[in-house]
Amino acid sequence: MFAQFDKQIDEIISKMTLKEKIGQLNQEKAPSGKEEYENLLEMAKRGEVGSVLWASSAYAGAGNEPGINVELMDELQKCAVENSRCKIPVIFGRDVIHGHKTVYPIPLAMACSFNNDLVEKCYRATAKEAANDGIQWSFAPMIDLSRDPRWGRIIEGPGEDPFVGASFAKSAVKGFMGEKLSDKDSVVACAKHYIGYGASEGGRDYHRTEISDYTLYNFYLPAFRAAVNAGVGTVMSSFNDISGQPISSSVHHIREILKEKVGFEGFVVSDWDAVIQLVKQGVARDEKDCAELSLKAGIDLDMKDRAYLTYLEELVKEGIVSEELINDSVKRILRVKFAKNLFENPYRNQVSYDRKEHFALAREIAEETAVLLKNDNVLPLSKTQKIGVIGPFLKEKRDLIGSWTLDGKAEETPSLYEALLNRPEKENIVFADSLEELSGVDTVLLALGEVHTNTGEANAVAKLTLTDDQIELVNRVKSLKKKTIAVIFSGRPLAITRQIPCLDGILYAWHSGNETAPAICNLLFGDKVPSGKLAMTFPRTVGHIPMYYNVTPSGRPVDGYYGENPENCYNDIPASPLYPFGFGLSYTEFSYEDIKCDNKELSLDELKNGKKFNISVKVNNKGDYSAKETVQLYIRDLICLNMRPLRELKAYQKKEIQKGCDETFEFSVGYEELGYYYSDGSFHVEPGEFEIYVGDNCLTENKIVINVKA
Ligand code: GLC
Repeated sequence: MFAQFDKQIDEIISKMTLKEKIGQLNQEKAPSGKEEYENLLEMAKRGEVGSVLWASSAYAGAGNEPGINVELMDELQKCAVENSRCKIPVIFGRDVIHGHKTVYPIPLAMACSFNNDLVEKCYRATAKEAANDGIQWSFAPMIDLSRDPRWGRIIEGPGEDPFVGASFAKSAVKGFMGEKLSDKDSVVACAKHYIGYGASEGGRDYHRTEISDYTLYNFYLPAFRAAVNAGVGTVMSSFNDISGQPISSSVHHIREILKEKVGFEGFVVSDWDAVIQLVKQGVARDEKDCAELSLKAGIDLDMKDRAYLTYLEELVKEGIVSEELINDSVKRILRVKFAKNLFENPYRNQVSYDRKEHFALAREIAEETAVLLKNDNVLPLSKTQKIGVIGPFLKEKRDLIGSWTLDGKAEETPSLYEALLNRPEKENIVFADSLEELSGVDTVLLALGEVHTNTGEANAVAKLTLTDDQIELVNRVKSLKKKTIAVIFSGRPLAITRQIPCLDGILYAWHSGNETAPAICNLLFGDKVPSGKLAMTFPRTVGHIPMYYNVTPSGRPVDGYYGENPENCYNDIPASPLYPFGFGLSYTEFSYEDIKCDNKELSLDELKNGKKFNISVKVNNKGDYSAKETVQLYIRDLICLNMRPLRELKAYQKKEIQKGCDETFEFSVGYEELGYYYSDGSFHVEPGEFEIYVGDNCLTENKIVINVKA
């Protein structure tokens, strides 16, 4: 897709000086103040600015960023395309992670919707809003697989599963891109952070990781491969090292795996100061070394630290770095600028959109991301029952739009309090500041959660509980002996183990954007039915971590899915999770009939030639509510050269089933679904038996066995 421009690009490169080429490899941060701004204009005139990232600090995610200034962007662009000798446009980037002006759920919550079309629509709407503000490139989607809710950036990615991650990556990239990258309302996407950042030891941000190539190919790489196949134009390299090899200097991970094996044709941008941090990582003497190592590793664009701008010319003249490497990086950057049509259309475009439509979309997806974790016949609330509402998140607004929200506004985000006041049932609601005010109600609704500043970049936690004041409130409300429901506005999975016995209902609302509260009200009163499923395992305690569903079996008598045979496992706390991957309740009840398969055996050659196992299951809605169900298909390869997980999600479908009716879900399982990667990156299906599970979470026992004949 990107190489189609190479003829024109080679022509341009042939006329560029070495300095001008290096200028294309330099990304400046947003200017703070007049002096920095004027200097940036001069740099653009000299052809020293390939890109500007519209963020002024390393913690853009904390949301304390200056807004967009379209006039400045156009003035800067004018210096590049009219005053510089080569007249190559700048590409403007910004962290548009889960919405721009209109804020959608944090990506971890979006992944819980298991609704790819809806996710794509949210990113399509986001691209329109961002493009209208002159943003040509977003540093999203963040697709770091992670099994550690202590990590603050767990909120920013799609959770623990490679298939969910790949589906999310594809939906987001397609949403940003729209029909084609050259359209005015499209935005170049960025698959980040390549690679393994989510495995930071202890959940401590920026710390070391230990990932074998076998694990990398089968768990961490699939989302990036999906992004590349969806046409992503850029990839951002990550801060971490893998097994002692910093990614910022890793030829193996960037050039060999991403660019050669995966075939990525766009460009790789470093993360903020990641090139010069090689000194602190102890693999480079000075910043000149850093520039050499990162360019050789395959990082094309240097974010913010000017190591390339300062040292590459010298390195080429000293014969340490070849100009061919620089030419390749320039080519990759210009490919994306051509694909985005920046040479023809470098300035901000007016893009029209309907903001009301975007808010409606935000509400729709917030309704589908919420996960019903417990319901002892207390939900939905009736239209007449007397409800008392209490808790620190009752009037909260800013937290509901979560971390990594640079352009969203708390004032455009109704609190639960405001949303309830908008309900016809408001006459039956008591908003309480003290327990005494709850004496006349029959049901208590607790508004609990996690502040957004506790999540996101550089915000790891060693505990994984609600705050002490909230725990105490839950315990005190329990003493009222009333029906009690908790709505939890959180970024990460919390170990709410001790609160569960005190609660009759739990609705996990996440930080789900501008429309979180109205969506939750629609679910609480039954206008909509919860359909979210967990894209991440909930541990009982922080001591469980890492805990995830796609584990390989042990050889010892540690029975149970997670090895939770009590005789051999933890002496103090059961080893099964609080809630497993894929789990989520509904107001109705679905029953699964036996799995059917058109044939139980195919040969390896038939699979290679595209034949598939066609599998179906009928799901009955036996309850009183029409509702959506996400049917999940997992495989297990029973015997193979390398150990494979007990279950691997390979497909899911989400459909509405009318009450009293049934729906048939059909899946095709072929070479792609049954295969896996060896540690050399080769892909194989091995003959033998596979178990196929189809159900409503990862622990379903609804299975059949199929056979692949040698
Ligand atoms: C940050 C983040 C990265 C972001 C970049 C620019 O440190 O790691 O995800 O895109 O800097 O803000």
